[in-house]
Amino acid sequence: MTMEIDIFTLFPEAFEWFAGQRHVANALAAGHTLNRVNYRDHTPLSGRQVDDTPFGGGAGMVLRVDVVDAALRGRYNVDPVDLPAHRRVIALDPSGRLLDDALVDELAAEPALTLLSGRYEGFDERIVEHFASDRVSIGRYVLAGGELAAMVLCDAVLRKLPGSLGDERSALEESFSAALEGGPEYPHYTRPAEYRGWRVPEVLLSGHHARIAQWRLEQSRSRAAAAAPLSEPPTRRA
Ligand code: 6GU
Repeated sequence: MTMEIDIFTLFPEAFEWFAGQRHVANALAAGHTLNRVNYRDHTPLSGRQVDDTPFGGGAGMVLRVDVVDAALRGRYNVDPVDLPAHRRVIALDPSGRLLDDALVDELAAEPALTLLSGRYEGFDERIVEHFASDRVSIGRYVLAGGELAAMVLCDAVLRKLPGSLGDERSALEESFSAALEGGPEYPHYTRPAEYRGWRVPEVLLSGHHARIAQWRLEQSRSRAAAAAPLSEPPTRRA
């Protein structure tokens, strides 16, 4: 099964470097698609306008609902309020559901994804309310736009798809995967076996696969324990 990803953005050129990445290029060669749609190409407003000042005042510009309506309609030939019933339409928004490995797996199982990037202060809320199935954030900090977040999401999803990684095993046993009990990945080493007196753990040189697997699982577990304080829910400062 192949996946179709459509990214709606004001900056389609921002994705050029990304689309050339090895695992992305591999995914595209395997039949998956990554389309970029410029909101400006569909705007019903004059002067290629796409955003406007916020009602109620305040800083920045807000992406207009009529512009996104026209862009989605132009791409899919349906009323966009009917879209979320047929495909995941994801608004990239710092207040959204946090992207993690479980959500990436969920999205990687979809036949099609639509990503909506906002800019400036974000989306007119009616866009998210009526056209989107999900609101997703990549972390508790604010980026100037959704483009980097869209690339992060696509990177994480595409590398899960068959054909994108050279070695299929690398996606199976990696950080936060079930094979490692949801924990972080174990440490890796390569040649030289000793550098400035820093030796690679002997077990890795032993050729004993069962002991190596056991050591890696233990390492992953102890990293999970060490990282735990960092993954607690955010606390509000007084
Ligand atoms: Cl999805 N968008 C923006 N603008 N900032 C973010 C984000 C998304 N996720 C974390 N920060």
